[in-house]
Amino acid sequence: MTHIVVLGSTNMDLVAYVGKAPQRGETVTGREFRTIPGGKGANQAVAAARAGATVSMIGAVGNDAFGSRLRTGLELPQALRAGGTPTGVNTDHLRTVEGPSGTAHIVVDDEGGNSIVVIPGANGTVDHLVPGDEGLIASADALLLQLEIPMAAVLAGARTARAHGVRTILTPAPARPLPPELLNSVDLLVPNEHEATALTGVPDPFAAADALLAQVPEVVVTLGAAGCLYVTRGAEPLAVPAPRVTAVDSTGAGDTFVGALAVALAEERPVREALTWAATAAALSVQRAGASASMPYRSEIEARYSA
Ligand code: RIB
Repeated sequence: MTHIVVLGSTNMDLVAYVGKAPQRGETVTGREFRTIPGGKGANQAVAAARAGATVSMIGAVGNDAFGSRLRTGLELPQALRAGGTPTGVNTDHLRTVEGPSGTAHIVVDDEGGNSIVVIPGANGTVDHLVPGDEGLIASADALLLQLEIPMAAVLAGARTARAHGVRTILTPAPARPLPPELLNSVDLLVPNEHEATALTGVPDPFAAADALLAQVPEVVVTLGAAGCLYVTRGAEPLAVPAPRVTAVDSTGAGDTFVGALAVALAEERPVREALTWAATAAALSVQRAGASASMPYRSEIEARYSA
């Protein structure tokens, strides 16, 4: 069984659904409000678990009501294991700390687009690995990292994975400058087109991906409804389309893509197949509301997947 470890954030997503997002200084009346477990780290953990991996989460929640709901949400059965045993994300390495949990304040418009403000809360305390984390990372087939926890922990995770020969996949979101040591320790970088441009200053996604190859051996740039493109050193680039769907909420689509991609690559599927499988998972997720709540199960991905 594939084992994926995620080192990253957990947030309670506070989501307002509106026709059109307000401009600066404007007040609009929305349609609905929901609280849905999210956070880029937890989303990737749920996506990978639903795609069929055994998943462990390293991070922190606060000692508030959101914290217990975030923990329980991860632990809920995400997939059936051998023998029909329902299994959730392992939270033994998810600390509970004094203070509020992370929150994300999200506006989703009628076209399924979103804007997000994240308040890190407990995620801000995840600035180092604690005893046991290293052994857990060493036992994984892949480590998934994002940038919603302090850089010191992201770096420590990447270093640990590199020392133990574990594949590291970094989602550089929210975009910020990356220390060269981090890029040099990452095996696969998965920015969206905006993050790719923010990292390189290059507006064209293909050219940006190429520029990133100077530091990272493999890069996937996600392009939303247009699919994704993949580049690696010494091979032709690949452009992989996404299935055509009507989006109701794109929150967490990138996380779904990365979680599913990590599973497919750990299962040693060929790259084009893995990317198509991940794009299928992401396309399924945007047709439902919420981040982790919208993520498809392996059976749903398989049913919709066509190579
Ligand atoms: O990537 C989507 C996630 O970003 C949301 O779930 C929200 O918590 C923010 O972290």
